[in-house]
Amino acid sequence: MDKCYSIAIDGPAGAGKSTIAKRLAKELGFVYVDTGAIYRTVAYFLDLLGVSPKDVDGVERYIDELTIGIEYDADGVQHMIMNGMDVSGEIRTQDISQKASLVSAHAVVREVLLDMQRDVAKKHNVIMDGRDIATVVLPDADVKIFLTADPEVRAKRRYEELIAKGQKAVLPTILKEIQQRDYQDTHRPIAPLKMAKDSVKVDTSALDIDGVVTAIRGIVKEKIDL
Ligand code: DC
Repeated sequence: MDKCYSIAIDGPAGAGKSTIAKRLAKELGFVYVDTGAIYRTVAYFLDLLGVSPKDVDGVERYIDELTIGIEYDADGVQHMIMNGMDVSGEIRTQDISQKASLVSAHAVVREVLLDMQRDVAKKHNVIMDGRDIATVVLPDADVKIFLTADPEVRAKRRYEELIAKGQKAVLPTILKEIQQRDYQDTHRPIAPLKMAKDSVKVDTSALDIDGVVTAIRGIVKEKIDL
């Protein structure tokens, strides 16, 4: 493949990034890269070792002992492999969401993961979602989208997602956690969540999934001749 195309989708938790990116990736035949899952894998690994996500020395000491693999099954679903073990299910808890947000603030973690993310984009056409894709990971991405929604709407979506999975959830608690994560992710000194100057902002508060996909498909088609 000569040129690899990349579509960057950034935004806060619960804005609909992964749902939208998965759908579009399937439609376009692109690889979907969920970068949040990579940070979650680091958080889960440290958690198993009993290392606090705020412990700078502990994070620096143990990060080298972690080997992360990203694999895709026949349906294009991303699996996270932690030192040979598939932890794709284990990383999807509210506790790991919070810990991933804290772990992602460490320079050493961001450095290690940066190359991994760029390597995938060098080899494949990708739709990559995260917090710093358009600003740091792929500043030359062909399409840059900033997907957002009101915190209350995002909390309700996350609540319904967890309930559908059979997990326990309390809406006000989820809202508080989302607001805390927004604060941490936007205020960290390295690669904070912010909209790139050349990103297109899409507010999904009043849109359903089909509406968002239609809007983003239109933006993609303007920029990439597929
Ligand atoms: O997208 P997510 O909720 O799975 O991400 C979990 C945490 O990982 C998020 O709160 C911040 C961090 N993260 C990041 O710092 N940079 C990214 N590109 C993706 C996620």
